[in-house]
Amino acid sequence: MTLAANFEDTFGHPPAAIAAVPGRVNLIGEHTDYNGGAVLPAAIERRVQIALRPNDGNVIAIKSTRFDDRVKRPVGDPKRQSWTDYAVGALWKAEALGWHTGGTDLFIDSDVPDGAGVSSSAALITAILRAAADLAMVSVDPVAIAQHARAVENDYIGMPCGIMDQMAVGLLSPGSALALDTSDLRYDVIDIPADWTFAVIHSGIRRELADGRYKARFEECQQTSDALGTDALCLLDADQMEALSALPANLQKRARYVTSEHARTLEATTAMRKGDRATFARLMNESHRSYAVDFEASTPEIDELIADAVKTGAHGARLTGGGFGGCIVALLESDDAAEWIDDFIARHPGTWQV
Ligand code: GLA
Repeated sequence: MTLAANFEDTFGHPPAAIAAVPGRVNLIGEHTDYNGGAVLPAAIERRVQIALRPNDGNVIAIKSTRFDDRVKRPVGDPKRQSWTDYAVGALWKAEALGWHTGGTDLFIDSDVPDGAGVSSSAALITAILRAAADLAMVSVDPVAIAQHARAVENDYIGMPCGIMDQMAVGLLSPGSALALDTSDLRYDVIDIPADWTFAVIHSGIRRELADGRYKARFEECQQTSDALGTDALCLLDADQMEALSALPANLQKRARYVTSEHARTLEATTAMRKGDRATFARLMNESHRSYAVDFEASTPEIDELIADAVKTGAHGARLTGGGFGGCIVALLESDDAAEWIDDFIARHPGTWQV
């Protein structure tokens, strides 16, 4: 059934607006986006599709293809630690922007897995905001939509994320990557060379972005920035680098990771533009090492997967996303990718291709 038919089947009337937004995988540049640094995410082939229509009540009625039940929540309901929070939060924002008032019937059809670090929440929020803007007949620049979507995460969900995910899902389609400077939101969309394939494989370890560990790293970076008097930890000058050596060891390590990750991301972006796969792959491997050792955001199980990926022929591999679980991303030769992925998954029970 089409999205519109599904909507009508559920709610008894056709939708007023629909939107589709992909998930994303970050190729390199992790935890740099709230530290004024560079990121390089790409869209994945999976997407969130939504259909909505204002209703006459004061209730948000949500049906997802993932769950049997239809969930009803009052307009403006505070968050409840439920997956529906992202929808309620997005509609709260749409209302604050004057794009929408009152209740909504919402249908969600998504094959972007949640808890996998591939931005299912950013895609859902972005899709709802885009549909609400369409409905209000306001034309909104995608960068502004990304800023509003981030505000839903920061202010409603309480997740102190940067803007990478919202920019990536709002600006990309599969086959391209976003070279984004998070200090000024300048960006460029780059075609991924045709003979490069980025395999995204779930480690089998679920992660929740809203869990404490992302926040803990965010706070360590904030603490370090405050101590050094900067709001861009990725861009320390020589004096700040020197002052860093007086700070506690954990903060020195976090800063060492984000500054080097920013530099690697810039270099990797140049390598992608030139089609220089060997350099890109080396930087992915270095990125993972520093993410594990200096940022301490990996796990022993994931380190093993990365080591095996590289040993068995991936040019480069790293843990992608906020850390502590979710997916790895491996750079492969396009012609060999399908076979490599099948073999890898067969060797590692519990892993699956995203
Ligand atoms: C999550 C956040 C992003 C970013 C990454 C880590 O995806 O939402 O803003 O910080 O983690 O790179």
